[in-house]
Amino acid sequence: MKELSRKVAQAPKSKIRELFDLAAGREDVISLGIGQPDFKTPQPAIEGNIKALNKNITYYAPTRGIPSLLEQLERKVKKFNKINVNWKENIIVTNGGSQALSLAFASLFNPGDELILSSPNFISYFYLTIFFGVKLVEIQRKNDFSLDLEAIKKKINPNTKAILINSPNNPTGYVLSNDELYELVEIVKSNDIYLISDEVYENYTYDGSKHISPASIEGMFERTITLNAMSKLFSATGFRLGYVIAKKQVIDLMENYHQYTVAGTNHPAQYGFLEALKMDISFFNEILKSFDKRRIFVYKRLNEMGFDVVKPKGAFYIMPSVKKFNIDGEDFSKALMKDYGVAVVPGKTFGSYSNNMIRISYATEYSKLEEAMNRIEKFIKKI
Ligand SMILES: Cc1ncc(COP(=O)(O)O)c(C=O)c1O
Repeated sequence: MKELSRKVAQAPKSKIRELFDLAAGREDVISLGIGQPDFKTPQPAIEGNIKALNKNITYYAPTRGIPSLLEQLERKVKKFNKINVNWKENIIVTNGGSQALSLAFASLFNPGDELILSSPNFISYFYLTIFFGVKLVEIQRKNDFSLDLEAIKKKINPNTKAILINSPNNPTGYVLSNDELYELVEIVKSNDIYLISDEVYENYTYDGSKHISPASIEGMFERTITLNAMSKLFSATGFRLGYVIAKKQVIDLMENYHQYTVAGTNHPAQYGFLEALKMDISFFNEILKSFDKRRIFVYKRLNEMGFDVVKPKGAFYIMPSVKKFNIDGEDFSKALMKDYGVAVVPGKTFGSYSNNMIRISYATEYSKLEEAMNRIEKFIKKI
């Protein structure tokens, strides 16, 4: 029979899924593998959704999203992100951050275009470049996971269309410093390219670090595609709702693509998102504190065990190197799972420069984290 899509076949089965397969049927497994916060979705989100269903709002939503949600997003983005948007022109509601990313790729790139990405980074970016025929220019982060801006500058050429950043970052937990961000912005402006800014972890920052949306910086709105989602802030990854903020021309193109690929997003769920956004953000204060406590604990334990590890300043991941144990990230993850029932993700999932690393998500109960760290300690003593 004739060959199926070569592009799609290049995306292998996710390593994270492979880990779940290893865990199947075992009750002793502690998962530090998943990017899903462990608190309950706030009740207003759930009730908003149920109310809409009870009103039989089960028909197609407007392609860009329901006006009340778009208006609420305008308020949120103006207040929180300091980006001056107009909901009629600059926002589209998407199926999670994932589809916001697809729309960014669909609306920006032409054949031959290049995208600069610092690595390690979130897995989907890599496969989107393949699916959309974009040349990926992968640049290794520095040892502290900051961006290598000099290396980025050197790689820019007439085919460079955009730089993609994700701060706070999955998998490294890195948050861009102000100086770094402003330097990056200068590179983007002076080379007349675009910036894709994935801000799904914007609320998860620690140690006084603050998230700044690049689109709020002078001269950047026109060249930035900002994407975000309901998933992490509201612990609602299954709602599948997100959004993009960009200039009108970009959103118009996104609407075209959206129309003919997904025809819109879940209609009743948009009312849930609306109610969630109306909540006072203080609902998140205690949650953030508990994430911070876990972050500090995991960092301290990994340090005590002798891992080379950078203290994360954001998101809910930490990415130690396992090199000094003479094992690579993949073998480490497999053996740890098989012998001690702890799931962590091999670093190579996140690009070409993290074979010797693992990603740990600390978005799990404190007592489980304690137990997982004890098991990791036993494991490294054995190897
Ligand atoms: C950096 C980053 N961007 C985007 C997404 C996708 O978000 P969603 O689950 O809303 O599709 C994730 C999910 O883990 C992520 O970590």
